[in-house]
Amino acid sequence: MKHVIEIRNLTKHYGDLIAVNDLSISIKKGEIFAFLGPNGAGKTTTVEICEGIRKPTSGSVHLFGEEFSGKSKSIRERIGVLPQEYRSFERLTVYETLKYYASFYQRNRNIDEIIALMDLNDKRNDLYMNLSGGLKQRVGVAMALVNDPDIVFLDEPTTGLDPRARRGVWKAIQKLKEEGKTIFLTTHYMEEAEHLADRVAIIHNGRIVAEGSTHELISRHGDGYTVKLHGCDTGKMGSFGWDVREVKDNSITLHVLKPGDITGILSKAIKDGKGFESMEVRRANLEEVFLNLTGETLEGGDAH
Ligand SMILES: Nc1ncnc2c1ncn2[C@@H]1O[C@H](COP(=O)(O)OP(=O)(O)OP(=O)(O)O)[C@@H](O)[C@H]1O
Ligand SMILES: [Mg+2]
Repeated sequence: MKHVIEIRNLTKHYGDLIAVNDLSISIKKGEIFAFLGPNGAGKTTTVEICEGIRKPTSGSVHLFGEEFSGKSKSIRERIGVLPQEYRSFERLTVYETLKYYASFYQRNRNIDEIIALMDLNDKRNDLYMNLSGGLKQRVGVAMALVNDPDIVFLDEPTTGLDPRARRGVWKAIQKLKEEGKTIFLTTHYMEEAEHLADRVAIIHNGRIVAEGSTHELISRHGDGYTVKLHGCDTGKMGSFGWDVREVKDNSITLHVLKPGDITGILSKAIKDGKGFESMEVRRANLEEVFLNLTGETLEGGDAH
């Protein structure tokens, strides 16, 4: 069986609000698939319908080739879930926490093996309440593994973590992929999608607006270059007709389509402005892809 998750024409209404709008997607066995989208895009609603926690208004979800609505115990035994902003029992140790969650399943994986896999050996007997945010999230991923699932759903596994803690969670997720698990992850961090996902779907207002590998999305929807000048005359630099993406303190971010345009910016800054202190140039990334497709930023709100 090639596709272990198949979402077909999924729609979810909350009263008048259409949270998920005729969304279809297929996810292959062993793939890390990321839903990238801002707050309120419909990520959690979709994922929780896949997990059988919420009911769709219409459409369906097939897991392992079988329609799933939350009832089938044999399917529930084969999926693992890390809910968004989950909390566990403050006064249980890491080991006790995993033991407790394992008791809900018939299928189990050795707990010390999970602890080792998530690099939590040192924390095995620490109380949950004494762990840092990054360690709590790694315990959360470990909790999703107690039944040795084939599919793991991770809803914003690194939101609010500092970059170092985030990398620790990314490493844990990569280990799951190495074990052949299928991972459906949601995030609003483009770096996370770029770093982890084999395939990314950009979700906006309940619809998938683009889907493919990071590389495909950037070459299809992410034309051009971003040029950021620091320590320059931002008023002047903003007045030459380039596409201004951001002005902040004494720096300005411009977007151009051709590498040749970068030379034009440099010569204007030096000849007609007061020069600049430093410059960053980068190719488009998923942030620009999102902006080009929706006119909004991933952090929410209009770009300009
Ligand atoms: N139980 C509910 N009742 C009513 N409206 C809801 C409910 N759950 C979600 N919504 C609304 O549906 C829309 C989609 O929400 P959802 O939580 O699925 O988005 P999300 O992409 O996960 O956002 P976030 O990044 O904030 O987690 C939002 O407008 C939200 O306010
Ligand atoms: Mg959510």
